Amino acid sequence: MFEETILSRRLVPAFKPKFHRVMKQAQRFSMVSKKRMQSLWRLLCRVERDRVPGDYVELGAASGGTGLILCAHARDATLERQVWMYDAFEEFDPPSAVHREVHDLLFEVNGFDPGRVHLVKGFFDATVGGRPPRPIALLHIDASGYEAVRCGLDLLESLVSPGGWLVFDNYGVDEGVRRAVHESLAEEAREVRLKRFGHTQAYFQCALVLRTGEAE
Ligand SMILES: C[S@@+](CC[C@H](N)C(=O)[O-])C[C@H]1O[C@@H](n2cnc3c(N)ncnc32)[C@H](O)[C@@H]1O
Repeated sequence: MFEETILSRRLVPAFKPKFHRVMKQAQRFSMVSKKRMQSLWRLLCRVERDRVPGDYVELGAASGGTGLILCAHARDATLERQVWMYDAFEEFDPPSAVHREVHDLLFEVNGFDPGRVHLVKGFFDATVGGRPPRPIALLHIDASGYEAVRCGLDLLESLVSPGGWLVFDNYGVDEGVRRAVHESLAEEAREVRLKRFGHTQAYFQCALVLRTGEAE
């Protein structure tokens, strides 16, 4: 039912057949529910439709599920887009995934171009700032806790292109995530319309394309 709603929106028809293929594989490697992954895909399609320039960036890759969605979408995008996936992998306590396995999933199983997909191991505060300052079309923050989310926002929010999207999984279930998002918005005095998808996911569009309060 939900899937039909997404597809009926006619967001970039050329992407439809791939949507099913990608989702099937991504589900096997993700902690994120199918519906939230569909919501993420829909936002990527909006970025594509609106020709928002920039890369796709993910903080919290784990086993690579949602990252696969970003990579598959970027591969066929009409604008040149790179994908940046960050995670501490084995350094995190407890570790959620093994870096080598995610590397193989991306580059050997799926054949993504290592010149355009970057899998970066390490804690966000040590790695994310080292990224070249390229514009971002969609920033997916899928980590828990105030520090991790705040670090991502402090380092990357200013790179998100007008019309680009910031997506937070864990928003509904983690008080630290909510605090980081709200503090950051308040400090920037940003008036955005924070939208919810289900209980867990929240997202907003970066300035100016939608006026505050305008319906999606
Ligand atoms: C909820 S999981 C990501 C789920 C993934 N997107 C998926 O599709 O299943 C959160 C991940 O964030 C990573 N993480 C959390 N805090 C981090 C930090 N400060 N630096 C680096 N990685 C972090 C963890 O290692 C974990 O793999």
